[in-house]
Amino acid sequence: MRKFTIGLRHYPYKSPIIYKSYNQSNKVVKIANIELGNFPLLLAPMEDVSDPPFRVLCKRFGADMMYTEFISSEGLIRDARKSVQKLDIYEEERPIGIQIFGANLDSMRRSAEIVEAAKPELLDINYGCPVKKVVCKMAGAGILQDIDLMVKLTDHIVKSTKLPVTVKTRLGWNDDTKFIVEVAERLQDVGIKAISIHGRTRKQMYKGAADWTLIGRIKDNPRMHIPVFGNGDVDSGPKALEMKQKYGVDGIMIGRASIGYPWIFREVKHYLETGEELAPPTVVERVDAAREHLRRSIEWKGEKLGILEMRRHYTNYFRGFPSIKQYRMKLVTSLDANELFDTLDLVQSIYANEEDKVVLIV
Ligand SMILES: Cc1cc2nc3c(=O)[nH]c(=O)nc-3n(C[C@H](O)[C@H](O)[C@H](O)COP(=O)(O)O)c2cc1C
Repeated sequence: MRKFTIGLRHYPYKSPIIYKSYNQSNKVVKIANIELGNFPLLLAPMEDVSDPPFRVLCKRFGADMMYTEFISSEGLIRDARKSVQKLDIYEEERPIGIQIFGANLDSMRRSAEIVEAAKPELLDINYGCPVKKVVCKMAGAGILQDIDLMVKLTDHIVKSTKLPVTVKTRLGWNDDTKFIVEVAERLQDVGIKAISIHGRTRKQMYKGAADWTLIGRIKDNPRMHIPVFGNGDVDSGPKALEMKQKYGVDGIMIGRASIGYPWIFREVKHYLETGEELAPPTVVERVDAAREHLRRSIEWKGEKLGILEMRRHYTNYFRGFPSIKQYRMKLVTSLDANELFDTLDLVQSIYANEEDKVVLIV
């Protein structure tokens, strides 16, 4: 184990908060027959982020279960290239759920068949996307305005596929319609095998803090027996432990904190197991991961898109690197793969010798 001093903390760092290991329960969380250990960490589905190149890194650094970014059911049945490409799975990232969205019963049934042929471990339905062009068609979080339709559509999909079906949703459409406790039970009754809940309403979009109170209430419902995963604002081991202890969830789904920082999973896991904070990744680990991410991204999406979609990750990959701005500017403006790899090499050669300065200001 490496030992570090960052600021005033000595790593491995033992938290002063009262720590109770989650491993006290040996219960294994299962979605249908998929065993996920006793407190799984899930990578959240994120459009243009949770693609195969990124998922592989998250898996390596401790995520127990992956979700694809959402895929349009209408796109899938029209065989749109962009939608179909999102069905790709690397073997090493399994188990994985493919997430689809839509509100039309027939399109969703037909796209469930297409998803089944792609052989993921499960199919996830997106009832949480807040963006206007999705909700105005009653898809994503739009369906939270019509819970009967949500239940009917879910029932229809469960019956039309052999894959286990899971749902990801929000607390409700707005503050007056936070019916998630009842909704979760109704969805369980039509056969979903797990549910993930983002602790915001559609109206909140991403504003304010996520509220997990109702997620805890779902866990308090004695009729609920499927795994319930909490989602929203988890960005550290202590936060994950707090949510686990306060709300009794079966596992946690992590989204934004993983962007450009796939190590979040091993850090959270280590903290939950030991009560100690792991030292952050070294300069070499960060540059290596960024390099691999870029290489896989170009391989998978082609040079232009691969380069463009990598841009949002660099800020976090190199957070804490002093005077990184000029190199980051190059990384987020260049469209030339060779130039990008050269810049990454340069970043490594400069900062690897300044490891202490980098970690000191993390
Ligand atoms: C860039 C981005 C894209 C997202 N795309 C999806 C998506 O395709 N499907 C989905 O269910 N949620 C999507 N979400 C929502 C996340 O899965 C997650 O619910 C939300 O970010 C809250 O979790 P966090 O606080 O851990 O980020 C997206 C979020 C972000 C930031």
